[in-house]
Amino acid sequence: MKTKKISLVTGAGGMLGLQHASALLEMGNEVILVDVNNYSLKKNFSLLNKKHSKKIFSYKVDISKEKDVKNLASKIKKKFKKINILINNAAIDYIPKAKVKLKKNKFSNSFEDFSHTRWNKELSVGLTGTFLMSKYFGQLMRKNEKNVIVNISSDLSVIAPNQKLYSHLKSFKPVTYSVIKFGIVGLTKYLAAYWAKKNIRVNSLSPGGIYNFQDKVFVNKLKKEIPLGRMAAVDEYKGSIKYLCSEESSYMTGHNLVVDGGRTLI
Ligand SMILES: NC(=O)c1ccc[n+]([C@@H]2O[C@H](COP(=O)([O-])OP(=O)(O)OC[C@H]3O[C@@H](n4cnc5c(N)ncnc54)[C@H](O)[C@@H]3O)[C@@H](O)[C@H]2O)c1
Repeated sequence: MKTKKISLVTGAGGMLGLQHASALLEMGNEVILVDVNNYSLKKNFSLLNKKHSKKIFSYKVDISKEKDVKNLASKIKKKFKKINILINNAAIDYIPKAKVKLKKNKFSNSFEDFSHTRWNKELSVGLTGTFLMSKYFGQLMRKNEKNVIVNISSDLSVIAPNQKLYSHLKSFKPVTYSVIKFGIVGLTKYLAAYWAKKNIRVNSLSPGGIYNFQDKVFVNKLKKEIPLGRMAAVDEYKGSIKYLCSEESSYMTGHNLVVDGGRTLI
């Protein structure tokens, strides 16, 4: 008999969270959606529920708070007894927009003006949240079952952001993004070695930019850096999620799977 797999996606109210959850449901897993934003959580829940009712559950949780994560883990332990798949996907992202109000001669997100408060806030979700979720949910993974953690990083876990892409917007890609995404790859490798004997494979997925009606000039500049000549469609990472979360990748652990249309090749 096939054992029932319980999976969990953080940032499940977001654009990619919906896709990851949909991929896991298509594989036959039960999926727990977690997000701090109740409105988007409910929206994605009802979108998925149309096709997969009784297999989806949702919890509003701030993953940057240890107490909340611990509390969620004990609720999940009571209800589901275990977890098999964890996708650490939540983050606070900067979206290139044309209309940002700025003081004369000022660029937004400059390193020199980057506040300590914002540094702490963004790291607390992207990096600390990934640490906390792995800490508590890794302990709900059973040694006698096959378990997987997938950490969502970015093509910017391999290269530095090209700030020229944002110059016409008088903006920079924030430093936190690079630090979080490189850090996620480090945490992935650490845990892959640390939990190998516990039957937990840990990999990261590093997507390239997804087209989501961003500023036109930005999109055209970015396309020129991508050998495939375009940004990704929103559903183009589902195959990678299915691969990483299934036995198709049974010998892969500690890997950073870069799926970026070739951007980091050149
Ligand atoms: N969109 C892209 O082009 C792209 C490219 C590469 C990597 N990524 C990565 O993919 C992941 C998802 O990106 P997305 O575009 O779907 O972003 P998104 O903003 O649509 O989704 C992120 C979700 O995380 C949630 N979140 C934020 N803080 C939280 C907290 N404290 N606790 C729980 N949930 C919280 C938000 O409410 C949101 O629903 C991110 O890690 C992002 O860095 C995105």
